[in-house]
Amino acid sequence: MSVFVDDGPDAAGHEQVVFCQDRHTGLKAIIGIYSTALGPALGGTRFYPYATEEDALRDVLHLSRAMAYKNALAGLDLGGGKAVIWGDPAQLKSEALLRAYGRFVQSLGGRYYTACDVGTYVPDMDVIARETRFVTGRSVEHGGAGDSSILTAWGVFQGMRAAAEHVWGSPTLAGRRVGIAGLGKVGKYLAGHLLSDGASVVATDVSEAALEWARITHPQIDLVADTTALITSDIDVYAPCALGGALDDDTVAALRARVVTGGANNQLAHPGIEKSLVERGILYTPDYLVNAGGVIQVADEIEGFDFDRAKLRATRIFDTTRTILQLADADGVPPAVAADRLAERRMVEVGRLRSIHLG
Ligand SMILES: NC(=O)c1ccc[n+]([C@@H]2O[C@H](COP(=O)([O-])OP(=O)(O)OC[C@H]3O[C@@H](n4cnc5c(N)ncnc54)[C@H](O)[C@@H]3O)[C@@H](O)[C@H]2O)c1
Repeated sequence: MSVFVDDGPDAAGHEQVVFCQDRHTGLKAIIGIYSTALGPALGGTRFYPYATEEDALRDVLHLSRAMAYKNALAGLDLGGGKAVIWGDPAQLKSEALLRAYGRFVQSLGGRYYTACDVGTYVPDMDVIARETRFVTGRSVEHGGAGDSSILTAWGVFQGMRAAAEHVWGSPTLAGRRVGIAGLGKVGKYLAGHLLSDGASVVATDVSEAALEWARITHPQIDLVADTTALITSDIDVYAPCALGGALDDDTVAALRARVVTGGANNQLAHPGIEKSLVERGILYTPDYLVNAGGVIQVADEIEGFDFDRAKLRATRIFDTTRTILQLADADGVPPAVAADRLAERRMVEVGRLRSIHLG
């Protein structure tokens, strides 16, 4: 389902929640498995200095549930899970801690596959892989899929093309003005795709390094001071590519774009925002639908990574977005609701096939 930033903790829907501790290395981790209806749960490991254990638990429960919906909608034979390591990666991260964590992942016997998330990187996955087979997002040298933001951005671009077709009748951003908030790993690749497609791009970032990258690599990108300046400028599409909660009441009220399609997770700040967007005539393509390219990329590693095959799968985000926008219109519901329904339907219909006994 759509995961809202202010949802409370809810373990009731989860299949399994595992608390892991290794006193010697300081490892404290929580692995949340929301659903294995479609296959082993896949989702990254977030390494973050949560203020309390309850905050860590709340986050892993949100994130693992969101992964179940994302993986279902991406057409993967994978369930949803996620893990958090509670602590400051700058102080705590070590080979021993990552390997201790890898042993806990291995102990789940393949019910959970891990990958990168905030605070964990491709080289960390290579270390974790020394203790478990159930890890993706490793480096290319280790047979891995590498940087998942490449296909994340590609998938976001496909979702945006489908939204453009729905609103303006043609699956291209040529001649449109797109505002990107966050020129990080995903935002940078997205900017490149948009410029190649003939769009003009306006962007903002809080990092001077990211702005400098834009000035050098794509001097045609207009840079503005902050997100408020971006969303109140004359843009056709808003692409949140920084942090979660990008769409709150103030933003939706001020937004001038007709379309919102971006890479950031958990863009809807609270329940009801998806309806406010519809009321304002803004087409929002659900975040977990359009940003699934990264999980498609790392999931491919489980079969033995093939970039072209993974890219083809991520390209299908165009078709899925188109289907969801049509379903939303037909059912008279926001696209976020139509996406949830489609994901749930797949989890139920494909998930129940395991009840057919195979002898
Ligand atoms: N990388 C992936 O494969 C992937 C996959 C799915 C979803 N996502 C989501 O996409 C978003 C971006 O991911 P990323 O990998 O590019 O992260 P990143 O850390 O590389 O980039 C985020 C960028 O946003 C900027 N930023 C932070 N706060 C900002 C603000 N207030 N205004 C403007 N810019 C701000 C940062 O300076 C940074 O340049 C995140 O929400 C992430 O969870 C990423």
